[in-house]
Amino acid sequence: MNRLVLRRPDDWHLHLRDGAGLAAVLPPTADVFGRALVMPNLVPPVTTVDAALAYRDRIRAALPAGSRFRPLMALYLTEATSPETLEAAAAHPDIAAVKLYPAGATTNSDAGVRDPSVLGELYAVMERTGLVLCVHGEVTDPHVDIFDREAVFLETVLAPILERHPGLRVVVEHATTAQAVQFVRSAGDTVAASLTAHHLLMSRNALFEGGIRPHRYCLPILKREEHRIALLEAAISGSPKFFLGTDSAPHARHRKEAACGCAGMYTSPVAMGLYAEAFENAGEIQRLEHFASLAGPAFYGLPPNDDTITLVRQEQVVPETLPFGDDVIVPIRAGGVVRWRVEPARS
Ligand code: NCD
Ligand code: ZN
Ligand code: ZN
Repeated sequence: MNRLVLRRPDDWHLHLRDGAGLAAVLPPTADVFGRALVMPNLVPPVTTVDAALAYRDRIRAALPAGSRFRPLMALYLTEATSPETLEAAAAHPDIAAVKLYPAGATTNSDAGVRDPSVLGELYAVMERTGLVLCVHGEVTDPHVDIFDREAVFLETVLAPILERHPGLRVVVEHATTAQAVQFVRSAGDTVAASLTAHHLLMSRNALFEGGIRPHRYCLPILKREEHRIALLEAAISGSPKFFLGTDSAPHARHRKEAACGCAGMYTSPVAMGLYAEAFENAGEIQRLEHFASLAGPAFYGLPPNDDTITLVRQEQVVPETLPFGDDVIVPIRAGGVVRWRVEPARS
């Protein structure tokens, strides 16, 4: 197969940053995706409905003329978040989720939650209103091995919360382990997971291919091959519980190529091509539409997009760097080739 027409996809986990960075990274997403759930880990974090709507407006203002792209916003949960804030968020059509970052777990998570188990009053509001809780599911205990942090979080943090709040709608963001796949599969239909393209394509060996590869460092960190295979099986399974979330997370090159480089891979310019590769490698490219365009909106209670995109099997060379404000950014596969690309819309 060399061409694939599919319903326009959505990205259920995206970092757009702000200011000049936002202007630089928004177009590739807006060209391809109908909607994206925009992560709130700005500095300072997006903790109120007003801040989320102001951020939404800055995104809209940065859109190319005529774009139909719709940003959906997520609120950053803190220990100071009030039930009233969540009630207001649940009532607003442009706010689709609340994001739980364990404090210190990832980029810009310092304002996150030290002990997620104490927020029962807030989970009760989400349970009652149906407001989705997206979680960065990793424990932060430095004694827990970095490769085990997701599995330990699911067992020791999320499972008890779900026991107390069985109606809570939860997305395990950027799931990276076989344990996460199993956890989501065996939970009720209120629990789902987003999957990145990079975790479907790379195992932890890719971090050290010929030397240390800072642009392949993200959190949760790449795992063993057996986990990658479990994620790919989930993605192609046709289950409504697994859907596309790129976690495209741009950082200026000097912040990645550093003695202490930050976590995040920039994937959005080639994201659909990468997902197509992963599904094609698994011999299931015709399942891509369900994963990319149908399962996510169904979970979030939204209709699928009403138009289509066309993927063509045509190699594209990925630029070595891309502009990022006054800086540059190194995208995933920089200097390499991606096997599929999105056909530009005819104007
Ligand atoms: C993300 C970022 O840079 O904002 N980084 C990452 O490695 N995934 C934060 C996140 O999604 O955890
Ligand atoms: Zn995260
Ligand atoms: Zn992310």
